[in-house]
Amino acid sequence: MKIAYTLNIMKERIPFGRPFIDAEEEHAVVRVLRSGWLTTGTETLCFEQEFAAFLDAGNDGIQQPLRALAVNSATSGLHLALEAAGVGPGDVVLVPSYTFAATAEVARHLGAELAFVDVSPGSFLMDIAQLEVTIDRLSAGKTAYVNGGPCGVPRAVIPVHFAGLSCDMDAIMDKAARSNLTVVEDAAHALPAPYSGGGFAGTKAHIGVFSFYATKPLTTGEGGMIVSRDENLLRRMTTMRLHGIDRPIWNRYTGDNASWYYEVIEAGYKYNMPDVLAALGRVQLKRIEILWSMRKGIAARYDEAFSADERFIIPPTDSSDARHLYPLRLGPACPISRDECIRRLQEQYCIGTSVHFIPLHTMPFYTKRYGIKEDDLPETMRSFKAEISLPLCPGMTDSHIKYVIEAVCNVCR
Ligand SMILES: Cc1ncc(COP(=O)(O)O)c(C=O)c1O
Repeated sequence: MKIAYTLNIMKERIPFGRPFIDAEEEHAVVRVLRSGWLTTGTETLCFEQEFAAFLDAGNDGIQQPLRALAVNSATSGLHLALEAAGVGPGDVVLVPSYTFAATAEVARHLGAELAFVDVSPGSFLMDIAQLEVTIDRLSAGKTAYVNGGPCGVPRAVIPVHFAGLSCDMDAIMDKAARSNLTVVEDAAHALPAPYSGGGFAGTKAHIGVFSFYATKPLTTGEGGMIVSRDENLLRRMTTMRLHGIDRPIWNRYTGDNASWYYEVIEAGYKYNMPDVLAALGRVQLKRIEILWSMRKGIAARYDEAFSADERFIIPPTDSSDARHLYPLRLGPACPISRDECIRRLQEQYCIGTSVHFIPLHTMPFYTKRYGIKEDDLPETMRSFKAEISLPLCPGMTDSHIKYVIEAVCNVCR
């Protein structure tokens, strides 16, 4: 029977996101499919080692070596990270409201509460002064906000490197050390994003978590990676990643000293990455710097086109120029709203765009739970209302870029 596979999910002429996949990825996946071993195995182990080595290049030996644990999503990675940090009921985890649901929901999975921190003006990144105020209020037994919100023991903070822009990790680590907090970097957007003082985003905190979701700088379709230098945290996350089993069991049928025996020492999760996806990730990792420079090139063209036009506010950059997204903001001189701009780009030009992010404190679940008002986080709201993420896919040609620029200028009249 012939099945009509005429699904064209890329209806847009220029999609918002499209992974850069070629024959090398195809060969790597086919090689694993033909190997007879599809789930976690040697491909995943190699991917972990290569990923850690890439991020740890330049480690002068003073620091513990970085280790990586592959998982089936960044969400799982964030969950394992907070679990290993001992987060639980009575605790509060501090996150920006300007992030994806995953950053926050994992704290609720463990019974902890969330305190949302505003972004600093125009930066899209967590405001460090506000973070300090919120930690100090919670530590003093008060609610997170003057008008209410959660209360409890501040236990962990998850800074988000939005669009690849890195947060000031030195300042965050300093405050966290003084307040005894665990820090988990949400580096879902940050691969690779070098800090100005050396090292890569994701490697300064106790734990860093990367996403390999379909639109991310490195993709395995779905997937993620945890990195850490802390042996205790790594041991706990390794155990909890696979059913709370006390030892690596993936080669229990095939290894030299194979044994069927294992013990469950905790009620763990099923968060491992299969070899099919790890094979894809290894190829993507080899070309990560090329993909990074392609994104930089596209963003530079957008910057050039929009920077002198008072209808638009171009995104901030930092020394990493990581550019996972291109979060353009519409300025007061723009005659149409952000929503109208998105609609016209789609309808008139078939250009896919997105919005990063709908603030979490405006989501019904959190609004109801904490009674936070939109205006409690004014900078978050200001950025959200003006933001439109333009297509930024490696592989976009010169004429694609021109087409997007012309379309944005035309619809914003
Ligand atoms: C900032 C941020 N954190 C975490 C995640 C979750 O990643 P994953 O889909 O791999 O679980 C995302 C996904 O889009 C994200 O944007």
